[in-house]
Parts: sequence; structure tokens; C-alpha cells
Amino acid sequence: MAKSRRDRTTAEEKTRIDSETARKQLAFLLGYYRPYAGRTIVALLFMLPASAISLLFPRLTGDLIDTVTKSGSSDQLYTVGLSFLGLLIVQAVIGYFVSVTMARTTERVIAALRTDLFDHIIRLPLTVLTERRIGELSSRLSSDLTQIQETFSFSVMQILRQIIFLIGSIAIIISTSVQLTVPILVALPVIVVVALYMGRKIRALSTKTQDALARSSTIVEETLQSISAVKTYVQEGYETKRYHATIDENVRLAISGARLRAIFVTFIIFTIFGGIAGVILYGAGLVMSGAVTMGQLLSFLMYAMFVGGALGSVAEQFGQIQKSLGASVRMRELMQAPVEELGEDAPRIRLTSVQLDHVSFSYPERADTTVIDNVSLQIAPGERVAFVGSSGAGKSTTAALIQRLYDPTQGTISYDWTDAHALSLAQVRLNIGIVPQDIVLFGGTIDENIRYGKIDATEEEVVAAARAANAMEFIERFPEGMQARVGERGIKLSGGQRQRIAIARALLKNPPILILDEATSSLDADSERLISEALERLMEHRTTIIIAHRLSTVRRCDRIYVFDSGRIVESGAHDELFANADGKYRRWCDLQFIQ
Ligand SMILES: Nc1ncnc2c1ncn2[C@@H]1O[C@H](COP(=O)(O)OP(=O)(O)OP(=O)(O)O)[C@@H](O)[C@H]1O
Ligand SMILES: [Mg+2]
Repeated sequence: MAKSRRDRTTAEEKTRIDSETARKQLAFLLGYYRPYAGRTIVALLFMLPASAISLLFPRLTGDLIDTVTKSGSSDQLYTVGLSFLGLLIVQAVIGYFVSVTMARTTERVIAALRTDLFDHIIRLPLTVLTERRIGELSSRLSSDLTQIQETFSFSVMQILRQIIFLIGSIAIIISTSVQLTVPILVALPVIVVVALYMGRKIRALSTKTQDALARSSTIVEETLQSISAVKTYVQEGYETKRYHATIDENVRLAISGARLRAIFVTFIIFTIFGGIAGVILYGAGLVMSGAVTMGQLLSFLMYAMFVGGALGSVAEQFGQIQKSLGASVRMRELMQAPVEELGEDAPRIRLTSVQLDHVSFSYPERADTTVIDNVSLQIAPGERVAFVGSSGAGKSTTAALIQRLYDPTQGTISYDWTDAHALSLAQVRLNIGIVPQDIVLFGGTIDENIRYGKIDATEEEVVAAARAANAMEFIERFPEGMQARVGERGIKLSGGQRQRIAIARALLKNPPILILDEATSSLDADSERLISEALERLMEHRTTIIIAHRLSTVRRCDRIYVFDSGRIVESGAHDELFANADGKYRRWCDLQFIQ
């Protein structure tokens, strides 16, 4: 819990990046725009005339006023009106075209980013994925992508537009009247600098507010996830207190933010209106002396507002772009992490035996703890061996090493006496079936879950596997049968039922090597019998490693490896090991009898 909070803050800090990183991130994102470069550039070029047209409006308005105040013929009025209309139409058409083109491009770019990321992430080695905590990763990525999407569908276009406005307006202002330009060009930068400074202050505060809000939503998430624990331990009061505290903090920060914002807005309004009033007064003087016309003054004021608006907007959108570049840092890091080379194209070969030679291993996040310590073992084709030992002894980890989910830190693993590194990951993994200790099913139908063992299996094959796994017995009781949905939005299956689905999946995969990681939780006698039966069928004609917690399973094995703190302390057949009255195995058996 405490850890996830810390992660969030570092994630926030990461959004502030230096210019070198910004450049790299920009190159990374622009790389995705390359296939659409032509179209994007055309769309952006069209923005030039569209913005130029907007720039004409103040000038036209000024002309209109001058027409009215000077000669005042209705014909001229008509001409100006028509030009307004024509320009509006042209601008609308171009605006539509540009927006649609940019949106289409951005959507495709974001989609490409999403799919690339997904494809890359699922090919990352488990070491990287556990390091980064999968849940955090996926939520983080989706919010980062949203940020990038918003920026690139809006901010980039807006910045270009406003820069055109800015340059155009300033040029026109200067050419209209130097006397009017000077006071405006002196006042504007001052206003903008102050506005930017206050904007930054407000943003910093709003980050703090968001952090507080994130903390409170973490509490909501965690509490709801473990709601049954909350209820059994009657900790509703405790959770309420915890939640209220974060909400109070949130309110406090939000209010100081609002106060700052209020000062800011008041200041801006005061200076802007003050500035406008000043220029109007000054301008009115110039009009009276005949230096400028009424229309010129008006269009001048409008251009001045364009300049102010454009300055503010550019600064804001620039901030957005920086934020997005920051948000893409994690993405690029992930994309640069090397993926596993599966070698799916390597020819399929049949492997039936496993050899471990002085294998040691530590999980990367706890590199100082040796989880597997100098383990050597040989499992011959068709043999059935058992791993036994206390909880945390390293049995599941050894199974993971055999599946090549991790690389040993030292020593070698071979299959049919061929070094693992001479085989591709796919070649090894396709030869190994697993019924894991904790079975998590995919959110989908039972059929889909079983079929995962062999995606192109026929319906008959799936049913046959389910039958052999003794799973048909409960599947048939669902009204939708094989099509019943399981997982978060479907039926919740019991541990024993999930195990049988996993057995059916392994049966369908039909691998020569099998790993059964027995569930630690015990089942009722009836399910126990159904599962043992299913497992017997699954183990037939296969090399099998059973990670066992039950004596009944272990007894029938050819050989037993006793694990203790990551080492194999005893190995041999049941009778042999049982005969050693001081042995670990004998102690383990005695405990089983007591139970
Ligand atoms: N993904 C992981 N990251 C870090 N440490 C891990 C990870 N998985 C297991 N460990 C640690 O490695 C050690 C061995 O765990 P392992 O799961 O192999 O035990 P086990 O023998 O299968 O136990 P059990 O009988 O309870 O299933 C434990 O101390 C455990 O905390
Ligand atoms: Mg285990």
C-alpha cells in the first residue's frame, strides 16, 4: 500500500523532464507520425490560410466602422458584409478539413502506440513485468496515452494556429500605427510573464491536489477489493477514517488552489481591462487629433487582444506538450526494454527429459536472496518425480525455471541433454504443460479457456478434453454449457473446478513434459477423487513433475526431491527416504499422518 503511494509520486515527478529527454521523447512520438507525414503537413499548411483569414476580421471590422463614419454608402456596407460571409465559409471548410485530418491521424497514431505497447509488453520477460507491477503499469499507461492523445489532437494544432496569430497580429499592429503599438507592446509582456508565473504556481498546487485525490481513490480501490476482509474484521470505521483524512487533505489543497486561482483571475481581469481602458483613452486622444481613424483604433484593439490571447494560449499548450512528453517517458522506456526472443519459427521438436546442473537463482527484485541454491537433478523420459518441502522452499520457482520463465543466475538447464540456450523459448515451452498452483482464468467462455491449450482444436477435441478432465460434469450443469462466461464478469468457479479447466487445457495441449503444482488448499473427498482421476489421465505417457503436498500423490512417484530453503536435501524413492528415520522426508510424512 505504502509502496503504491510512493510510486505515484515518483511517477508525477517524472513528468518534469529536461530538454535532452524532451527531444528524445519528441523523436519517439514523431516516429509514429511518419506514415502520415504527408497528410499531416498538408493539413497544417492549410491552417496558414485559415488563420490568415481570421487575421483579416479585425481589419474588416475597422473598415466597416470607417465606412459608416465617413462616407456611409449602403453599397459599401453590402460589399463588406459579403466579404465577411465569403471568408467565414472558406474558413469553416478549411477548419473542418484540418480538424478531421488531424483527428484521423492522431487516432491512428495512438492506436499504433497502444498496439505496439501491448505487443511489446506481453513479450517482455517476467523479470521486467514483476519489477514494474502489472496493475500499476496498465492503469498508468492508459492515463499516459489519454494525455498524449489530447495533446496531439488539440495542442499541436492550437500552438501552430496561435503562433501564426501572434506573428500576424504583431505585424499588422506595427504597420497600422507605431504610436499605438508602443504602449501595448510594453504592457503585454509584463502581463504575460506574471500570468505564466501564477499559472505555474497553480499547476504545482493542482498536482498536489491530484496526488491527494489519487491517494483517496487508492483507498476506495483497496477497500472495495478486500471488502470481505473489511467486513470480517469490522474495520469499516477504520477505513472511513482513513478515507476522510485524505479527503480533508484534498479539500484543503483544493481550496488554497482556488484562492490562488481567484487572485490570478482577478489580477488578469484587472490588468487586461485596465490596459484596454488605457489604450482606449490614449487611442481616443489620437482619434480626436486625427492621427488615426475610429476603425483603425477598433481593429487595433482587436489585434491587441489576439496577441494577448495567443501569448497565453501558446504558453498553456506548450505546458501540455511538455506534460505529454513526460507521460511518454515510461512508454519509451518500456519499449526499449528487450523482449524475449521466442523463436516461434524454429522447427518443432519433441523434448521428453529435463536436467538441471548446479542451478542457482535469485529473483531480480530481491537479488540478495538466493531462492534456488545449487540444485542438480535429472528427470528421464516418462519418469514421474515429486518435489516436496515446506512452503517457500523453492518448488514453484524451480518449476518456473524449467519452463524458462526465468533464466538461472548460475548453472545450466538442459532438455534431452541439449543446453537450454541451444533451443528457442517456444521450442521448450511448447513441450511443457502446466497445471499451476493458483489458477487464474481468462475473462471469456469456458470453451475459450480450455482452447487456450490448442487454439485451433475442434469442438469435439475440446469436449473430449473437458470430459477426460472430469470437468464436463459441472460444465453441463451451466445453462450455456461450454459457452458459459467465467472470470470477473462471469461465473465464479471454485478452486477445484478451475483446476479441472486447467487440466483440460493441458490435456488439449498434449505436451510430453508436464508440471503439476498442486493447490495447497485441500478439497472435499469427492472433488479430490475427480481431480486425482483427471490428473492420472493427464500424466499417462508423460514425463511428470508433481509439486505435491499430499503423501498419497507422492507415494506413487519414481523419485522424490525434498526441497529445503532452495536446496535439494534428500532424493530417492519413497521407501528409501522413509527408511531414514532422521530425514526431512520422514518428518514430512509423519506430519501428514498426524493431520
Ligand atoms: N515473483 C517473485 N518475486 C520475488 N520472490 C519470489 C517470487 N516468487 C516467489 N518468491 C520467493 O521465493 C521463495 C520460494 O518461493 P516458491 O514459490 O518457489 O515456494 P514454494 O516451494 O512453491 O512454496 P509453496 O509450497 O508455498 O507453494 C519464497 O521465499 C518466495 O517468497
Ligand atoms: Mg509453490
